[in-house]
Amino acid sequence: MDKRFNGKKNSIFQGRSVLSETSLTPAEMNYLIDFGLHLKYLKRHNIPHRYLEGKSIALLFEKASTRTRSSFVTAAVELGAHPDYLGKDDIHLGKKESVEDTAKILGSMFDGIEFRGFKQSTVDGLAKYSGVPVWNGLTDEWHPTQTIPDLMTLKENFGYLKGLTLTFIGDGRNNVANSLLVGGSMVGVNVHIVAPKSLLPSENHVEIAKKYAQESGSEIVITDDIDKGVKGSNAIYTDVWVSMGESDWEERVKLLKPYQVNMDLMRKTGTPDDELIFMHCLPAFHDTKTEYGKEIEEKYGITEMEVTDEVFRSKYSRVFEEGENRKHGIKAIMAATLGDLFIPKA
Ligand code: CP
Ligand code: NVA
Repeated sequence: MDKRFNGKKNSIFQGRSVLSETSLTPAEMNYLIDFGLHLKYLKRHNIPHRYLEGKSIALLFEKASTRTRSSFVTAAVELGAHPDYLGKDDIHLGKKESVEDTAKILGSMFDGIEFRGFKQSTVDGLAKYSGVPVWNGLTDEWHPTQTIPDLMTLKENFGYLKGLTLTFIGDGRNNVANSLLVGGSMVGVNVHIVAPKSLLPSENHVEIAKKYAQESGSEIVITDDIDKGVKGSNAIYTDVWVSMGESDWEERVKLLKPYQVNMDLMRKTGTPDDELIFMHCLPAFHDTKTEYGKEIEEKYGITEMEVTDEVFRSKYSRVFEEGENRKHGIKAIMAATLGDLFIPKA
């Protein structure tokens, strides 16, 4: 619990950290999705929402980022807070100073801390020792500040969540897949994970999701069978085949080529056009206009990886709306956990 609230909290969110989806109850997850959409409306209509006036926020990044960093910075500024970016070469964390010591110092100066990096234990440790709300901006295991905005995107498109089917296809045991599996199951979205056997999610993550699914009525399907896995989907979701910190491109290209999202795969859903969207957390390898894209073309002769350019630019694609929603969702998370809002029990 954040030491500054002195037990006088106006909402159950105050002082809390978001380290993974499991930091929240399903009701809290639903609340943050709706609050994010509300904050998007306020921003669109130029209605001020400076819930974090005078607060300082530390943004710790061990890995690169476009969307998460920009979201935290712009959301913090629009909430009235001051964000400070602390990149991996700017601070001593891990090299000369432990997580515990760093957390104690940062917590004594900043009101909230975002962390993007490798180990989940680092973000957990920052929360344990800093005494202020800590937000996970992606670790090797989880990406909760992706899930909440993604569920906002689904709700925006369909008007509801319960009963929709989201299919993640690709590296089914990466951070985004884990987070969607658990986050979706919390709010009643059926989650299908479709991946080669060696890239299916761990038993532990599936177990967590199944427990939530029992309560919410969501259906979990874990399979390497593409036809079975994509059938009936409302959202086809994919992510890079090789995540930050990994390097086994050759093996992944070989394993995941059949799992590429192309028009053929979109048709395999059997879903009517107006009930089907394509999602991707981004960045995406849909052409050869990147260094990696060019290198992969030279080495393996493919010009598109996890998604074809055709699907990426198609009428199904919501990837840029999804990207923008990162900001509004992250704003909701920061405002709820650090602001002095009155929020009736979610
Ligand atoms: N989706 C996502 O986390 O993007 P960035 O890596 O650009 O932050
Ligand atoms: N799985 C990807 C997500 C990037 C937003 C990675 O960790 O690199």
